[in-house]
Amino acid sequence: MEMTRLLHLICGILVLLLRFSVVKADDPYRFFTWTVTYGTIAPLGVPQQVILINGQFPGPRLDCVTNDNIVLNLINKLDEPFLLTWNGIKQRKNSWQDGVLGTNCPIPPNKNYTYIFQPKDQIGSYTYFPSTAMHRASGGFGAINVYSRSVIPIPYPTPAGEFTLLIGDWHKTNHKTLQRTLDSGRALPFPDGILINGQIHTTFSGDQGKTYKFRISNVGLSTSFNFRIQGHKMKVVEVEGSHVMQNVYDSIDVHVGQSLAVLVTLDQAPKDYYIVASTRFTRRVLTSTAVLHYSNSHTPVSGPVPAAPRLQFHWSMQQARTFRWNLTANAARPNPQGSYHYGRITRSRTIVLSNSAPLINGKQRYAVNSVSYINPDTPLKLADYFNIPGVFSTNSIESTPTLGSAHIATSLMPASLHEFIEVIFQNDENTMQAWHLDGYDFWVVGFGSGKWSSARRRSYNLVDAPTRHTTQVYPKSWTAILVSLDNQGMWNLRSSMWSRQYLGQQFYLKVWTPVKSLANEYNIPSNVLLCGRAKRGF
Ligand SMILES: *[C@@H]1O[C@H](CO)[C@@H](O)[C@H](O)[C@H]1NC(C)=O
Ligand SMILES: *[C@@H]1O[C@H](CO)[C@@H](O)[C@H](O)[C@H]1NC(C)=O
Repeated sequence: MEMTRLLHLICGILVLLLRFSVVKADDPYRFFTWTVTYGTIAPLGVPQQVILINGQFPGPRLDCVTNDNIVLNLINKLDEPFLLTWNGIKQRKNSWQDGVLGTNCPIPPNKNYTYIFQPKDQIGSYTYFPSTAMHRASGGFGAINVYSRSVIPIPYPTPAGEFTLLIGDWHKTNHKTLQRTLDSGRALPFPDGILINGQIHTTFSGDQGKTYKFRISNVGLSTSFNFRIQGHKMKVVEVEGSHVMQNVYDSIDVHVGQSLAVLVTLDQAPKDYYIVASTRFTRRVLTSTAVLHYSNSHTPVSGPVPAAPRLQFHWSMQQARTFRWNLTANAARPNPQGSYHYGRITRSRTIVLSNSAPLINGKQRYAVNSVSYINPDTPLKLADYFNIPGVFSTNSIESTPTLGSAHIATSLMPASLHEFIEVIFQNDENTMQAWHLDGYDFWVVGFGSGKWSSARRRSYNLVDAPTRHTTQVYPKSWTAILVSLDNQGMWNLRSSMWSRQYLGQQFYLKVWTPVKSLANEYNIPSNVLLCGRAKRGF
């Protein structure tokens, strides 16, 4: 008895020391204080209310280096509860900081919450945005650039400069009005325009002969766009933290929630050139331009704006297949990306997720496997931690599509830590989809049209598929991903298309093991916000 207690004590101390060395280590700290307010600007010529962070629209760029400790105090000065989520930051062992309503209580008006997290073993181009209500429709989003540590070589010469482009569809309508539209059971209206860094006339300047990195993200609500630069080729080097084979493109499709980085050499005559983003797969095409200015240019932009590819889904799917992992490049750590042979790992099971747009009680909703998710008043993560019954049930969503009508529930799918799963996104609808998983990146191994069947596995890329956090699914098509469930926590699997997410096309994946250990998951933060039944007692 005495001996066991002693052992427990020693183990406890060791775990504490370990946690200390894991979290503190020598990794630098970066402190931020961000205040969220309303402001008025006129991005499309009409004054409208937007969401600012530290007075900026889009919000400030969060620059950091792999493994930095980010301490970010977010002060909410809006009239509604608010949260930011860090799209693509894996929050290793730390879903406490994910900033979605299933893991965090929203920050009440005039209150603050200090997020503490690390982009652990990550590099690349990401974004953050509000996860609450329809706030994202009014701004509050920004870029996260995770730079490589100086000791890790990157697989291309250091560019002469970098530009960050946040591109997205935009509504002149206020987020509360859009929310009321959705709440009343109607679909989101067609957007009014496309913004590039919150504007419709941004200029990016560089020197002739030099090469620049453009980090491009789709921060819109629902529309894919095609991106191109007049007279210039783009070499894709990174897709959501994966170094990819450096192929050259005239134009690139970027879907909602996705990010990538390209290198562009200013190898043309000194003049100004159009940078173009136009909506893809929409009946009416919205186009927005910016300017690539050569520092020695005296000639303004001219000539026709370069056209988008004429071909639609087939072209886009073919292009998606050309994004491949560079197996010999390092990622955030000095081991080649291909040293992990994901194609040879036995899959524990296959999950098939089918999206739909049902009417429930006469109102437009969106669902996955016939369940339309609804947020409880208590975050699932806290209900799980405090053992509060009745918030969710673990058999609330099937792992294959079900027949029958859709219903509303707080859906959670259980999974075991270290499972290696195959997920098929089956899109039987006639519209584009984009799916995102928090806490992970995954291998996008296949795209195909029609219904997925096990025979389609023969077409998978099991050698050099890229890893990413958001994948598109084409209309009447499927996309297959493989995920190594090595990150314990409560993770949101959602449509990146925000009205679909808002009206139920999401659920939580609880990745769990009965062994309670700080090696698997960090403790609840000491400054955790409590709400719902976690606050009232139970
Ligand atoms: C709110 O900010 C203060 C510092 O101004 C900080 O001490 C406190 O921990 C923050 N609250 C939360 C819940 O993080
Ligand atoms: C892959 O990465 C290696 C190693 O960094 C680099 O030398 C090579 O150019 C890259 N290959 C392609 C095709 O991008």
